Amino acid sequence: MFTITLHISFFLYLLFYTTAAAATIGDTANATPYIPSDYFLLDCGSSSSLNDAEGRKWSGDARSKFSPSNISNTSLESTASKQDPSVNRVPYMTARIIHSQFTYTFPVSIGPKFIRLYFYPVNYSNLDIANSFFYVTSGGYTLLSNFSAFLTVSAMKPAVASLRKEFIVNVRNNQILNITFLPSPNSYAFVNGIEVVSMPENLYIPGSDHQILLVPNQIVFNIDNSSALETLYRLNVGGNEVSITNDTGMFRLWLPDDDYTYSAYGFPPHREVSIQYTKDTPPYTAPQIVYTTSRTMGNDSLRYNLTWKFPVDSGFYYLLRLHFCEIQLEVTLENQRVFIIYINNQTAQRGADVIQWSGGTRIPVFKDYVIMVTDPDGRQSKQDLWLAMYPELDFRPEYADAILNGLEIFKLSGKDGSLAGANPELVLSPLPGPPTLSPQKKNNKKTSSLPVIIGTVVGGGSVLVFILGFLIFRRRRRVKALGSTQPKSSWVPLSDGSKSTKTSGSSLPSDLCRRFSLEEITSATCNFDDNFVIGAGGFGNVYKGHIDNGATTVAIKRLNPSSNQGAREFQTEIGMLSKLRHLHLVSLIGYCNDNREMILIYDYMAHGTLRDHLYKSKKQPIPWKQRLQICIGAARGLHYLHTGAKRTIIHRDVKSTNILLDEKWVAKVSDFGLSKLGPKDVGHSHVSTVVKGSFGYIDPEYYKRQQLTEKSDVYSFGVVLFEVLCARPAIILNFPEEPVSLAEWARNSYRKGTLDRIVDPNLKGEIAPECLRKFGEVGDSCLRDNGIDRPGMNDVVWGLEFALQLQEAAEKMAHGGGGLLPAALASPSAPLLHGEATTTDDDEVFTGSVENMSRSTVSNERLKSETVFSEIMNPAGR
Ligand SMILES: *[C@@H]1O[C@H](CO)[C@@H](O)[C@H](O)[C@H]1NC(C)=O
Ligand SMILES: *[C@@H]1O[C@H](CO)[C@@H](O)[C@H](O)[C@H]1NC(C)=O
Ligand SMILES: *[C@@H]1O[C@H](CO)[C@@H](O)[C@H](O)[C@H]1NC(C)=O
Ligand SMILES: *[C@@H]1O[C@H](CO)[C@@H](O)[C@H](O)[C@H]1NC(C)=O
Ligand SMILES: *[C@@H]1O[C@H](CO)[C@@H](O)[C@H](O)[C@H]1NC(C)=O
Ligand SMILES: *[C@@H]1O[C@H](CO)[C@@H](O)[C@H](O)[C@H]1NC(C)=O
Ligand SMILES: *[C@@H]1O[C@H](CO)[C@@H](O)[C@H](O)[C@H]1NC(C)=O
Ligand SMILES: *[C@@H]1O[C@H](CO)[C@@H](O)[C@H](O)[C@H]1NC(C)=O
Ligand SMILES: *[C@@H]1O[C@H](CO)[C@@H](O)[C@H](O)[C@H]1NC(C)=O
Ligand SMILES: *[C@@H]1O[C@H](CO)[C@@H](O)[C@H](O)[C@H]1NC(C)=O
Repeated sequence: MFTITLHISFFLYLLFYTTAAAATIGDTANATPYIPSDYFLLDCGSSSSLNDAEGRKWSGDARSKFSPSNISNTSLESTASKQDPSVNRVPYMTARIIHSQFTYTFPVSIGPKFIRLYFYPVNYSNLDIANSFFYVTSGGYTLLSNFSAFLTVSAMKPAVASLRKEFIVNVRNNQILNITFLPSPNSYAFVNGIEVVSMPENLYIPGSDHQILLVPNQIVFNIDNSSALETLYRLNVGGNEVSITNDTGMFRLWLPDDDYTYSAYGFPPHREVSIQYTKDTPPYTAPQIVYTTSRTMGNDSLRYNLTWKFPVDSGFYYLLRLHFCEIQLEVTLENQRVFIIYINNQTAQRGADVIQWSGGTRIPVFKDYVIMVTDPDGRQSKQDLWLAMYPELDFRPEYADAILNGLEIFKLSGKDGSLAGANPELVLSPLPGPPTLSPQKKNNKKTSSLPVIIGTVVGGGSVLVFILGFLIFRRRRRVKALGSTQPKSSWVPLSDGSKSTKTSGSSLPSDLCRRFSLEEITSATCNFDDNFVIGAGGFGNVYKGHIDNGATTVAIKRLNPSSNQGAREFQTEIGMLSKLRHLHLVSLIGYCNDNREMILIYDYMAHGTLRDHLYKSKKQPIPWKQRLQICIGAARGLHYLHTGAKRTIIHRDVKSTNILLDEKWVAKVSDFGLSKLGPKDVGHSHVSTVVKGSFGYIDPEYYKRQQLTEKSDVYSFGVVLFEVLCARPAIILNFPEEPVSLAEWARNSYRKGTLDRIVDPNLKGEIAPECLRKFGEVGDSCLRDNGIDRPGMNDVVWGLEFALQLQEAAEKMAHGGGGLLPAALASPSAPLLHGEATTTDDDEVFTGSVENMSRSTVSNERLKSETVFSEIMNPAGR
């Protein structure tokens, strides 16, 4: 649905711009996914218009309306004293020499712009370039401060002759973009070229629905939309340079990553496939070639981290955008290639699974991380920013491997609005000696032949946009031959997960929930003594334990390491629960991940599971009103899950054993191991997923279509409501005389008006008829066949509260009118065996008999493969 919308609007967009901007945009540009509304190329120090090597037309700034009117009194035009062959082209052939404050003014539209500044630092007009230091400001941001293009270029590796700096500035208030040059005292400024290009509004500072994680805390980081950015690196990982005219319309330059790889051996061959862009990753995000080339780990993947390193200025936040896309034939499913992402040796992401993120092969996806780079010495200097990846063995993926397709690194402006770092010290070619702030410097200054990357021109549209950017011109580099010899299928298959004895240096969130050592847990449970077991299930055991010297009682859930899905569920549960806090949700206290253990520590729930108080236990039955309150509490918890967080969270495993009761009988929803985030877009009402859940509670619609919505939880909750009313399991398999499916049985009874016959005998005489009717109505509506016909959890909460009021009103009346409940309440509830037999005249999955199930639309194989069904075999549940 949304794809169609996207295509239509994109088409309209093209139509509009081909009409509006046809005069200024060349023919080829019509094919690009983005057409800039603002686009200026200013050749500084020149009075004519010239084309660059890409065929883009640059206007001289001498008589430009964007230059100050007294330009000839305040600056000089000059040509370079010498011209490196690599930069013998527009806009490097001329420069404007500036001796006092000097402002270029561009009329632009509101929104973010690239500003690209071009510098070729050589002597101009007999001025020593080593004496040029200057400031550049724009829109209140300091882009460069006491900047020396000469020192900067001298320190660059690989060696270059010229420099292109790219900034992103958000034009907010008026439709003017000023770029001001101010020389340092007794110095002068110069510039060779200025480029301003607009970009899509949310390209780099995305809307609130896109999460940016702060490393290492893994909390959501909000990039202030008033921040300015400087592009430091933009790489086509594992591929060749992508020229500016092959970008998506913004003339960004994508360089190969060879110069930044620290340990990286293999990359799969480029496959010529077409990429399916999405609403979250629109076609302008990155060119197709970026997504069809990649770097992976090769056959030694367990021995090393796939690692890159990037020199950056300390004292700033950095935004890393990692681009991913699976196109290799071997990887088509979730959990085939799962890896950990480290940024600066800290865990940025566990369980990175591109297929899971994107939903399939050939669908691109990107992830954003922000990290602060500090300087251990406390002074501003260059530091290395490390990016590394390692297979996520805890997840037992099919291949031990990792992948990266593209990478962009931006510096974020500080509180003072500055992006400027200190100048590097001068790096001289052959001299030995101290000036080495950049590590592993080699003293060979290659004279590189630079590709020129400058394009066609656009003069004045009425709407203009500005963009700043920086890129280093470098020698075009070929992909290393070493890599191309690696066979692409040479990953180590992890047929046996126990092969690796590595303990994962886990860094799950530690600020939001506590990390326990294994010693703490073994001492809390007397080394997992059976006497401490308070529950068991397919996932493993739950123990009661005391931590903090006995001060706190906790429930300790130890996941069975042999469960394949376990690792992901473990991760999900921590990720979800550590961020959610609600009276009716179980609180996660912490976790333990030592020694490949997967242990979760929760608040201890003194009264155990709801089911324990309904049937199959010798516990005192709970009175009706208290049952209603428990249902209301659980419904509130689910309502919060569905609507309280930024994105809908679907529990997927609502059942009476996942509703726990604390010492005050407050209901708490637990067990988020199967939870799934709901769809991001409103237009997308479901998420497609492999069916998971517990037998007897699974929404038949979800089962048939494999499309999960929050209404699937509503269905399961309806089953729980009838469990509470009837005190019998959702499914009874081995007694042919009893109806198999509670849901079916209860709905039939409700419709026939015989619900009172199936009520828990222990509640005899307790339930007011109008309350029972309302309760039955709520339960029945939850179990409707079509999700859209079922109420939302807020309606369920409301309906149950109303039922409680009806009950209270009836009790009051009974007291006022003689102290007894109305006679109708006293009608005996039928014992379970007298319930109506279920007829199975349709093919719903969980109705009728066991044989019927195997004939159902879903293969029996899949049923067996789901770990949750192990709970059927082990009816103790937990
Ligand atoms: C040039 O014009 C700007 C404003 O347009 C002014 O601030 C500056 O002082 C002028 N410079 C000279 C040398 O007149
Ligand atoms: C620029 O210099 C010329 C000649 O030196 C002078 O006539 C003119 O007034 C000056 N313009 C400004 C704006 O200072
Ligand atoms: C620039 O000129 C100075 C003297 O004015 C000279 O010492 C220096 O070598 C020149 N630099 C270059 C790169 O030519
Ligand atoms: C500018 O930087 C140079 C060298 O990095 C330094 O010598 C000079 O003092 C600085 N000037 C200012 C005004 O900061
Ligand atoms: C841009 O510069 C011009 C001339 O220096 C000045 O009049 C104007 O106020 C500036 N606008 C902004 C938004 O800085
Ligand atoms: C920036 O964010 C503020 C609130 O955080 C919002 O009001 C404003 O519209 C945003 N501006 C832009 C240009 O997106
Ligand atoms: C742009 O991409 C096409 C197709 O990949 C390629 O043939 C062409 O050489 C590229 N252009 C430049 C300037 O690199
Ligand atoms: C990995 O690949 C290299 C080169 O293809 C080969 O020499 C080496 O033996 C392989 N190692 C393993 C463990 O397969
Ligand atoms: C990979 O990097 C992480 C973080 O720096 C480190 O903890 C781990 O030991 C590295 N693994 C290997 C195999 O080098
Ligand atoms: C990060 O890891 C790299 C190698 O993986 C190592 O060289 C570097 O020293 C580490 N940095 C820190 C701060 O530990």
